[in-house]
Amino acid sequence: MYPGGIGAALATTLHDAGHHVFATARDAAKLKPLADQGITTLPLDISSPDSIASAVAFVSAAAGTGLDILVNNAAVSYSMPVADISLDAARKLFDTNVWGQVAVTQAFLPLLLLRASDGSNTSKAWGLGGLCGGGQQQRRQPMIVNHTSVGSVMAMPFQSVYNSSKAAFAMLSQALRMEVAPFGIRVVELKTGGVRTNIIANNNVNKGNAGGDGKGSEAIATSSPPKWAGHLPTGSVYAPARSVVEYAMSQEGLADRGITPEQWAREVAALLLSGNPPQVIWKGESATLAWAGTLLPAWLFEGFLKKLTKLDEVERIIKEDRQGRPADLPAADN
Ligand SMILES: NC(=O)c1ccc[n+]([C@@H]2O[C@H](COP(=O)([O-])OP(=O)(O)OC[C@H]3O[C@@H](n4cnc5c(N)ncnc54)[C@H](OP(=O)(O)O)[C@@H]3O)[C@@H](O)[C@H]2O)c1
Repeated sequence: MYPGGIGAALATTLHDAGHHVFATARDAAKLKPLADQGITTLPLDISSPDSIASAVAFVSAAAGTGLDILVNNAAVSYSMPVADISLDAARKLFDTNVWGQVAVTQAFLPLLLLRASDGSNTSKAWGLGGLCGGGQQQRRQPMIVNHTSVGSVMAMPFQSVYNSSKAAFAMLSQALRMEVAPFGIRVVELKTGGVRTNIIANNNVNKGNAGGDGKGSEAIATSSPPKWAGHLPTGSVYAPARSVVEYAMSQEGLADRGITPEQWAREVAALLLSGNPPQVIWKGESATLAWAGTLLPAWLFEGFLKKLTKLDEVERIIKEDRQGRPADLPAADN
């Protein structure tokens, strides 16, 4: 497991390739391993306008001739059936995964425009959101790199809030690509598949980090949480299948799957630095399968996903439960 996640692996790969990388995180202490490699680090909370303004001021001062690449990488996740979603927690997830990315993009755009208008751009500075950077001798268009996911095109049961935030971010990326093309800026989207990071263990919204109206986070506070800490609220319609649903919500079965962040970073950096990167980069375990899934009829792929997430078992338990009791009796929690 790479403690710093995909952003840290990409920062290291770009730094090792000779680029000046600005790596960011909410907790600057987490950036120490990158700072020890000689990477410039700074704090950035993409949900805070003040924090974004400070980061822009820092990077402007340090990279006066502009920014070559802005990587919007930060995200949080949230596992819950749609029927039980905490709207408060879901809004907070969108604040990070969607609106935070828009705010960072707007704030750093002047630095990218500066680079675009400087015909001599031989790629000098990068920023990762976090990350920013650059550094080779060929002419290269400034770039905004948005990290969405294969989840932006492939809905997973109980991951609807995360998936829909990634779909929204993907759509914003497509529109942005056309909108900034007149200024000579590219937009690349990373539709990433499985990469072995702590994203599942981090599962921020389930842990209550994003606040919430009590659904989910309240349940966590009142029961002893397993390490992934995602619980159905009391009274959930899924109560008869609670253990299976909560296991699926945990994504524990997926935690050890995926390519390493280092491999992902090597493959993605090679494309980003190629001089003519694709508009969408599909990398990570099953990324090609997810791409193929976009060409298949929905029912075919949904059958595969039901098995993968044990939704077929949930369906069996719910059907048995509903057959076994009068309609006016509430489902038993187990
Ligand atoms: N791993 C995969 O299989 C996979 C697949 C598809 C897409 N992705 C995408 O890849 C990106 C990186 O994920 P990862 O796998 O490396 O997981 P990760 O280690 O959990 O990385 C997510 C990062 O986002 C940061 N973050 C969350 N909220 C933030 C905020 N308000 N301001 C600034 N930073 C914030 C987190 O920082 P804290 O430590 O402070 O919480 C964390 O470092 C994400 O966009 C994710 O959706 C990952």
